[in-house]
Amino acid sequence: MSDLKFSEKGMKKYEWLLTRYPDKQAVLLPALRIAEAEFGELGIPEMKYVADLMGISPARVYGVVTFYTHFRRAGTGTFHIQVCSTLSCALRGSQELADHIAKRLGIEMGETTEDGMFSVSKVECLGSCDTAPMFQLNDNYHENLTLDDVDRIIEDCKKESARGGAR
Ligand code: FES
Repeated sequence: MSDLKFSEKGMKKYEWLLTRYPDKQAVLLPALRIAEAEFGELGIPEMKYVADLMGISPARVYGVVTFYTHFRRAGTGTFHIQVCSTLSCALRGSQELADHIAKRLGIEMGETTEDGMFSVSKVECLGSCDTAPMFQLNDNYHENLTLDDVDRIIEDCKKESARGGAR
């Protein structure tokens, strides 16, 4: 039995959302956003909590979480780099960018470094096509990227981590 529970603030937000949508099912995505913010990541216990809270099947919650790339799933590194690989970014060198990041971190796309510091994945269009190539690092966009930018950003993450910072 899990002791996961939304905070009072999280629960108030969830209850407010229920008044804003036509049915409970429609609240699933924003409810997962609350869970992500409250619990830090979405693993099986967090998904089960949301399913129980909403009275829907855990399988449905799991299906939604694993369908979208923008949820922070359990096991994701402290710094999650999501490289856009859709057309504008692809034409502007996102593959080279992705290869460079993977090589630098010593992992493949979709993997997390052994120390849990970095995860890297390819994602579909992040809606910033005019600034291609770009990636999302946790909640922030980094745009018009060069390989030198990537190196600098990775080093900045390492420094931030050494200072005890993270997301
Ligand atoms: S194609 Fe990369 S942000 Fe749209």
